[in-house]
Amino acid sequence: MVLTSGKLGVIGAGVMGSALIRGLVETGVIGRDKIWTAARTEASCKQIESQLGVTATTDYKRELPDTEVLLICVKPNSMGKVLEYLKANNLSEDTLIISIAAGKTIAFLEQSLGGKNPVIRAMPNTPCIVGEGMTVICPGTYASPRQVEEAFAIFNAVGKCIELEETHFDAVTGLGGSGPAYLYLIMEALADGGVRVGLPREVALKIVTQTVLGAATMVEKTGQHPAALRDDVTTPAGCTIGALLIMEDGKIRSVLARAVEEAAQIAGELGERK
Ligand SMILES: NC(=O)c1ccc[n+]([C@@H]2O[C@H](COP(=O)([O-])OP(=O)(O)OC[C@H]3O[C@@H](n4cnc5c(N)ncnc54)[C@H](OP(=O)(O)O)[C@@H]3O)[C@@H](O)[C@H]2O)c1
Repeated sequence: MVLTSGKLGVIGAGVMGSALIRGLVETGVIGRDKIWTAARTEASCKQIESQLGVTATTDYKRELPDTEVLLICVKPNSMGKVLEYLKANNLSEDTLIISIAAGKTIAFLEQSLGGKNPVIRAMPNTPCIVGEGMTVICPGTYASPRQVEEAFAIFNAVGKCIELEETHFDAVTGLGGSGPAYLYLIMEALADGGVRVGLPREVALKIVTQTVLGAATMVEKTGQHPAALRDDVTTPAGCTIGALLIMEDGKIRSVLARAVEEAAQIAGELGERK
């Protein structure tokens, strides 16, 4: 049970906000009647209500006194406006604020709210939609151990959750937040390879999907280093070593690592944009 007495408010039910609501409702962690959402327009409210079955409003000040946890899921450049609204509408100092905005620091959140609100910064990713998300959380100055547990319960309902120091958040954003996009690109390219050697597109994609799932499960369940697992597939003078050398010629390792580095740097800059 996540909530003790109040409700969960979700500001911004876009890709991530609605994924989190779906996960929480479908796993039974929070009932629909205990969730309210806020959107920018009446049209969005209607859409959220019909798609997610939770109440949605454009003006949520009446909901605030009864809100135990407030998940803020708007884009980083909309955060300032939302925090101003909360400050102007007497947000209770008992309400736990969880922000998933890339680049927005705990210090920024706490200072913008101007009081002693418990704040937790989180970085989830889109596989939360299918209950396989990866979220990293970091509690702010005033979050109690019980509120950290609440945040764990929320994100564990839609995947896995770990706690890390805030200094790692840009790195986490570049690796885990953006990570699904890299893997989709790699999957698409591998499927193209299958098509190039004669497989129908849907067969190639099915083989790639199960292979990626299988390989990820092997890393998770065996606890072995990916390099050791790769060696098991690589027969001397076989086809796999031939393919791996082609990948190394294309600098696949440094390309992927540098891509993460670039994303992490941009994540840091996102917090500075107004
Ligand atoms: N997508 C990802 O993979 C991912 C992963 C990790 C973290 N994040 C973080 O999650 C946050 C949301 O990303 P997203 O991809 O879910 O974006 P999104 O799909 O654009 O959702 C944002 C939602 O917030 C609504 N919104 C904006 N201002 C609002 C306000 N003042 N009051 C109420 N609702 C408001 C938007 O409505 P309108 O469309 O009407 O403006 C939209 O529905 C971002 O801060 C991002 O850094 C995203």
